[in-house]
Amino acid sequence: MSSTVDTAGAIAVPVTSMQSDTAGNNGGVIAPASTLVIFGASGDLTSRKLMPALAELIHRGFLGPSFAVVGVARTEMTDEDFQSRMATAVENPPDDWATVTKRFRYITGEYDHPETFSRLRSVLEQIEGQFIAPSGATTVTGNRLYYFAAPPSTFPILVGGLRDAGLNHAHAEGAFARVIIEKPYGRDMASAVALDEIVHSGFDESQVYRIDHYLGKETVQNLLALRFSNAIFEPLWNRNYVDHVEITVAETLGVGHRGGFYEEAGALRDIVQNHVMQVVALTLMEPPSSMDPNGIRDEKVKALKAVVTMSDRDVESSVVRGQYSAGLVEGEKAVAYRHEEGVNPNSTTETYLAVQLVVDNWRWAGVPIYLRTGKRLPKRVTEVVMHFRAAPHLAFAAKTAKKLEPNSLIVRIQPDEGISLRFGAKVPGQAFQVRTTSMDFEYDKQFTEEDLDGYERLLLDALLGDQTLFIRTDEVHEAWRIVTPMLNAFADPDFPVAMYPAGTWGPGEADRLIDRSGRKWRQP
Ligand code: BG6
Repeated sequence: MSSTVDTAGAIAVPVTSMQSDTAGNNGGVIAPASTLVIFGASGDLTSRKLMPALAELIHRGFLGPSFAVVGVARTEMTDEDFQSRMATAVENPPDDWATVTKRFRYITGEYDHPETFSRLRSVLEQIEGQFIAPSGATTVTGNRLYYFAAPPSTFPILVGGLRDAGLNHAHAEGAFARVIIEKPYGRDMASAVALDEIVHSGFDESQVYRIDHYLGKETVQNLLALRFSNAIFEPLWNRNYVDHVEITVAETLGVGHRGGFYEEAGALRDIVQNHVMQVVALTLMEPPSSMDPNGIRDEKVKALKAVVTMSDRDVESSVVRGQYSAGLVEGEKAVAYRHEEGVNPNSTTETYLAVQLVVDNWRWAGVPIYLRTGKRLPKRVTEVVMHFRAAPHLAFAAKTAKKLEPNSLIVRIQPDEGISLRFGAKVPGQAFQVRTTSMDFEYDKQFTEEDLDGYERLLLDALLGDQTLFIRTDEVHEAWRIVTPMLNAFADPDFPVAMYPAGTWGPGEADRLIDRSGRKWRQP
């Protein structure tokens, strides 16, 4: 391996942002002087997500003046073109945003030309001399964060280019060279393993930050806080008290202009292998012995390892593949998936999935885990629901408790982030009637601090050297292992595609999947 182990985060920052209160920057964390190199700088992700995130970090004081950006892409642009494009990419920029963007540089180049990387080296050296290390500054200089925002097919080429140019090493004592890699990380297990081999030929795992923006969401992290900072939930969080777990990632949006991409991905690769598996891991994991990045990631991997690999028969009986037909979503007409731009009119690509997972460990034995995700559903909502077992005996007559459901704890990840506990209470009045009611905690009512959005937090964490919220190589492999039997089954043209009208909660087959054990999907 020709890379160096990254210990620079430990030198530059004494506390990680997971551990400190960075919201509003009352923890006073400031990213070290660094240059962000974005490959794919002319693309959508750069202007839609990365620039607004940088602007917000600057506005909130997480990024100091010793910071610059180098954009690299094939599109012809001058430094000035890039600067003005980035200056206008942010809707409500901080006052000094225009000045900040004047430090940005742009390189037009092919990723498979060594010359692109030699130019990058000289631009980095020049920029570091000019902006990052003003004379007399004592800050560590030469910190470089590479962001792969280009198409996934270019990832191996980019690693090779950086490695062959020697840009994969920290080039100064105490500095870092890190790489953020966007999803999808591979198309299946074999390609993910192959990509890992190439990535590791240039970068040590301690330098690699595989991003999943779901992990940057405040409430995803709150799952950890809820579980591991309260004594009352953890004793219940197991097979003795939990009847089943339900995880929903529902979107109202269709595929928009991403039909071509989506045809190759489907919900399994686009959402389940990454976002849903991350939520599964955080929901099922054991308490970590420490909150350090590897302590948490070790437990996540262990949880994923306990998910049983499905046989072909399991896939047939425990997976529903769905696709939206025309319908009405939030009062607006929506075309069928097969009529979306860039989509094959006979496509069997799934826009919806319902899956029952089995987990083979002490904590979760016998507790089914139900997952569902879909586009063009009636509501945008991501939530984790712990459905508890029913009370063992109801002393009051059955008819007084007709409206009583078993307890459940709902962790709403988005929107309206919060937690609800549903429990039985007596209906006021002379008769002894019991009905389910709920105790609700809403984030925005309880906290005045502004949170950081996914990209803001994750960019900051990568600059700080905190890998907690990034996906480690073994996590990626476990997630691919879990979805592989479904990928194989879907490759068979005879595997059924259940249609559902846009604007409904998915196909009837999904209801039957959960109904057969006497359970029901929650209507969020
Ligand atoms: C992306 C998927 O990773 O996540 C999209 O590619 C999806 O298809 C999006 O719409 C959902 O993210 P969020 O943050 O809007 O829930």
